[in-house]
Amino acid sequence: MTTTTPQTSAYAPTDVESDVECDLDADVGVDVDPQLVAPDSAPPRPWWRDAVVYQVYIRSFADGDGDGIGDLAGIRARLPYLRDLGVDAVWITPFYPSPMADGGYDVADYRAIEPLFGALEDADALIAEAHAAGLRVVVDVVPNHSSDQHAWFRAALASAPGSPERARYIFRPGRGATGELPPTDWKSVFGGPAWRRVTEADGSPGEWYLHLFAPEQPDFDWTNPEVVAEFHDILRFWLDRGVDGFRIDVAHGLVKDPALPDIGAEQEQVLDAWAGTDHPFWDREGVHEIYRGWRKVLDAYAGDRMAVAEAWVKSPDRLARYVRPDELHQAFNFDFVETDWEASAFRGAIDAAMSVLAGVGADAQWVLSNHDIVRHVTRFGGGSKGLRRARAATLLMLALPGGAYLYQGEELGLYEVEDLPEDVLQDPVWLRSGHTEKGRDGCRVPLPWTRGGPSFGFGGGGSWLPQPGDWGGLSVQAQDGTPGSTLELYRLVLALRRALPALGAGNGAFAWEPGPSPDVLTFRRGADVVVVVNFGAVPVALPAAGEVLVASGPLTAAGELPADAAVWLRTN
Ligand code: NOJ
Repeated sequence: MTTTTPQTSAYAPTDVESDVECDLDADVGVDVDPQLVAPDSAPPRPWWRDAVVYQVYIRSFADGDGDGIGDLAGIRARLPYLRDLGVDAVWITPFYPSPMADGGYDVADYRAIEPLFGALEDADALIAEAHAAGLRVVVDVVPNHSSDQHAWFRAALASAPGSPERARYIFRPGRGATGELPPTDWKSVFGGPAWRRVTEADGSPGEWYLHLFAPEQPDFDWTNPEVVAEFHDILRFWLDRGVDGFRIDVAHGLVKDPALPDIGAEQEQVLDAWAGTDHPFWDREGVHEIYRGWRKVLDAYAGDRMAVAEAWVKSPDRLARYVRPDELHQAFNFDFVETDWEASAFRGAIDAAMSVLAGVGADAQWVLSNHDIVRHVTRFGGGSKGLRRARAATLLMLALPGGAYLYQGEELGLYEVEDLPEDVLQDPVWLRSGHTEKGRDGCRVPLPWTRGGPSFGFGGGGSWLPQPGDWGGLSVQAQDGTPGSTLELYRLVLALRRALPALGAGNGAFAWEPGPSPDVLTFRRGADVVVVVNFGAVPVALPAAGEVLVASGPLTAAGELPADAAVWLRTN
């Protein structure tokens, strides 16, 4: 076999090119060359600046009590798995009491645990055990709306128009002769009008309340100081219990234009189509004052507590405003998840994010998948091609400066389940779209842990969404210790990212380098790591001076980087 790479590399090219498998040595992930380890003199950086955070969608991660729904006991049992995977932190989606109109993003009580998921003691134990395992814990906070079963909203419904109870939400009289029309033309993100009319205590048709999401998710009124104070208190409740940070749901939506203007048929409801920066409810200036207040709450605690914004805004410069020094620590980079499999598109998204973030002294938070997005194996073409690209994208993402968020199951190469039967769908999008959009359940199918057994080891019984029959082959058990598996690739890449001074906390300088074709992205980190990603259709030669540290798949027999593949090289 002719090869341009030394046999000491973590991945030795084979002379057989296969679609998915690659000849990774699983042991290399834990046996990193001591010369690669960052020197003790490296300046301390807060843990979150370059952390790799693993998102647990609690309903679908692991089921500890066999009821078919994931829970805190399931997460606790799998903490060793997460530690061994090599992530720094775990973000857990909402675990609060909820009628589950939107998978827990309809919170009925922000200071308790949904019985399906466990109890407060389980959360305390989880936080302690995660810390003991060296993992930070980030919890979801949902400040734009509560559940309609929240005590405040029930009190609002039981109270009269104009009462302090109603003033915590956005109640308004309707338009039309008898108030029969909604106050504005705003549409719910999940479809249909964003207002619902209530029936007053005397049985008469009454005011309308705003719900940017499902009707079961009434929006808070953030101009009310009581709402501001309540959320400061909720943050402190969880900070006191030891959480390391918060993921802020709909961070860009809290403030509404008090004039409640119509949007008009000519303008889309989505921000992308909005001409100015004064959309009536997305990304308004007022949200920043809220996060300045939250920052003060977080800064009062020791231990580098942080918050990450889920903010779907129009441009990287608008996103950078959320991570100014006195605001939030991080914001997800969603431009990255919207990027097609194309070199110029990825380069553009990376450049755009990094240039504006540098201006505010913040780092990018790269993300390829989450519980609201079609899994990236499927976005990138599905099948073996989608998986090859997904693995390459992971090598690209985890070599970039800043932090990264992984979505549960991407380390197994899970794909979107696009053929879920209609009668199992639970996403409110399915209902609210009049059964025209299937929604997000396809990326929320419970994880396979074992090759066989009920629900492939997800729990002792079934699973709340059915798993595809071939998921046993993608299970943790099937991939654990299997050379070339996606799980072993993630373990290796995460171990290298920790160990290499140029990457992760080492924070080496980033610079693009010329590549062999416009379809290839090449960049250098620090003094000695070069990353090459081939988005094109034909194999390309790798730089002559480079030892392969890890490759997303097999190189060709000639030692070239095939289509849809990426490699990390050490150049000296
Ligand atoms: C964003 C969450 O990620 C999504 O799952 C939820 O439906 C909406 N916010 C509303 O809370």
